[in-house]
Amino acid sequence: MAKKKIQITETILRDAHQSLIATRMPLSDMLPILPQLDEIGFYSLECWGGATFDSCIRFLNEDPWERLRVIRQNCPKTRLQMLFRGQNMLGYRHYADDVLEYFVQRSVANGIDVIRIFDALNDIKNLQTAINATKAAKKENPNVEAQVAMSYTTGPIFTTDYYVNYAKQIEAAGADSICIKDMAALLTPYYTEELVTAIKKAVKIPVQLHTHYTSGLASMCLLKAIEAGCDRIDTAMSPLANGTSHAPTESMVAALQGTDYDTGLDLVKLSEIREYFMSLREKYIKSGLLDPKMLATDAKALIYQVPGGMLSNLLKQLKDAGKADKLTEVLEEVPKVRKDAGYPPLVTPTSQIVGTQAVFNVLFGEYKNCSGQFKDLVAGKYGTTPVPVDPAFRKRIIGDETPVTCRPADLLEPELEKLRAEIPEWIEQPEDVLTYAQFPQVAPKFFKARRDARIGLNPDADVAAHIHPV
Ligand code: CO
Repeated sequence: MAKKKIQITETILRDAHQSLIATRMPLSDMLPILPQLDEIGFYSLECWGGATFDSCIRFLNEDPWERLRVIRQNCPKTRLQMLFRGQNMLGYRHYADDVLEYFVQRSVANGIDVIRIFDALNDIKNLQTAINATKAAKKENPNVEAQVAMSYTTGPIFTTDYYVNYAKQIEAAGADSICIKDMAALLTPYYTEELVTAIKKAVKIPVQLHTHYTSGLASMCLLKAIEAGCDRIDTAMSPLANGTSHAPTESMVAALQGTDYDTGLDLVKLSEIREYFMSLREKYIKSGLLDPKMLATDAKALIYQVPGGMLSNLLKQLKDAGKADKLTEVLEEVPKVRKDAGYPPLVTPTSQIVGTQAVFNVLFGEYKNCSGQFKDLVAGKYGTTPVPVDPAFRKRIIGDETPVTCRPADLLEPELEKLRAEIPEWIEQPEDVLTYAQFPQVAPKFFKARRDARIGLNPDADVAAHIHPV
């Protein structure tokens, strides 16, 4: 067999801490180790997008754009990668094309190379503008790559043929590579082998596997994928690996060392980086940020077929309502709601929409109380569902409203100028309008805190000093 170097995307700066510590790793914890990470020779460093943006402005009081620029400065050699929800960008609604195009352009201008784009419904229509915008940015930076991730899920129509067909659509849409995104850790090793073999046969572009360790199968799935021709894998440095995160980077490098799939990465250098992240792991455990329970193997995901994060969200919603005893009922309701809604894969934002509706059904009776987002999903406002929604069910949920059958963003007017006009007082850099577009409630608070810090103003000082001007 010909030698084939397996490439690695290191996720410790994004998905690993999103999965284990609610995306709370601040830039100050990354900074000391960035130059060493840059020396390893990873294919890419996933460090932005997903929930990092929200967490930066909501909890960490950090400008996400500044974070990206600092990582870029400190990692000049390695491709930087982000996760992007297609027409949803990093927010929770559909955005007009002018906003999306501007977001992609500014992301690349600030340092992103690889944009991993996905759609919760695997609706290719929702990905085309993002793919085109990413490819247009190649003029600025030839390293730019439009990678499309297929949201992996299970259900009657999600056969190998379904994914092969979607992979062909992704390639035809102009993507540079494909990622199989198993956010809920549902893949098993032998099925992974079948799936990767079929996709590799159907497309010419590189294939990457992203899977979580939740059910304890990730490294076996990665190995089977590699044997079946997978080109790249996602891993996380061991201190923030396993559990709801990914397979450990060092273990995968060691497993492939000396074989035809050798990654060429240096285990000694990796172990130096491990030392640094071990100190962070201990710090996070001590502060309570990292709950050791998150590191345990849990095959429940395979039983209920829901992502780990969704399980904990459901439990929290029920606890808040004083109905924690209803969890099993809700877990049994999830597949019914999913079927009624046209079998959406459960990933942001559909996981929240389906989960909340299942909770409502159990607490208030079947579809007695429907969330606006659930109505929008059934009405086609998020795109075309994998299976068409039964017209009688749709009528029950949205009445005589006409369902959307086109690309939802085609119904949106350009909105960039309008958004800019809403916050003239806060704009300090061109990217601020994009932060605001995605988080209209949180962004102004963040902008105010940023300004107060810049001019040395402590808004609580008067109160703290018991000064009450009259
Ligand atoms: Co993930």
